[in-house]
Amino acid sequence: MKIVIIYESMYGNTKEVAEAVATVMSTAGDVRVVPAHEASATETTGADLVIVGGPTHAHGMSRSSSRKAADTEAEQNPELNIEEGAAGPGLRDWFAKVAKSSGQQAAAFDTRIDKPALLTGSAARGIAKRLRKLDFALIAAPESFFVDHSEGPLREGEATRAVQWAEHLATEAQAVASP
Ligand SMILES: Cc1cc2nc3c(=O)[nH]c(=O)nc-3n(C[C@H](O)[C@H](O)[C@H](O)COP(=O)(O)O)c2cc1C
Repeated sequence: MKIVIIYESMYGNTKEVAEAVATVMSTAGDVRVVPAHEASATETTGADLVIVGGPTHAHGMSRSSSRKAADTEAEQNPELNIEEGAAGPGLRDWFAKVAKSSGQQAAAFDTRIDKPALLTGSAARGIAKRLRKLDFALIAAPESFFVDHSEGPLREGEATRAVQWAEHLATEAQAVASP
């Protein structure tokens, strides 16, 4: 099975989830992990399973204005590290150019604050919507992993939950591939 994980991350939390998911997926097949700013229009071609994740900004996927705000926050807080390529292009830009799916399997995740999604919004919901529009077949509901403060770190136990989520995805993907 070929698996592609595309993620966006400003402060490294979503990257940490993507890497935890990748570690599990590497037991199920060939995994490629690609940051959104490097993802090409044909990045998912030939993949059996596509997993896309990003940080929740202003209730949804990031925009260049929210990435700029995150960057400004990091400039003012020397304890914050900003990821390479965090300025973008982001997931919205990638979705605008990516090729339509041939019915490949997919899943969406985000990181966000641990409050009801009605209050916080969820990038994963927007990601899932776009994946569906591109004819990907979602094999799981959009999932959120929580940060402790607006900038992180990941809440205790969330990396473990990411591993469990990935294990569930790997089982689902294999069940669909050979029912
Ligand atoms: C500009 C900006 C807007 C944000 N808006 C939201 C929001 O609407 N809802 C939420 O739950 N978290 C929000 N957050 C917190 C982010 O979700 C959090 O920084 C992110 O999950 C960290 O992931 P990253 O380290 O991969 O960037 C916001 C953060 C920033 C910088």
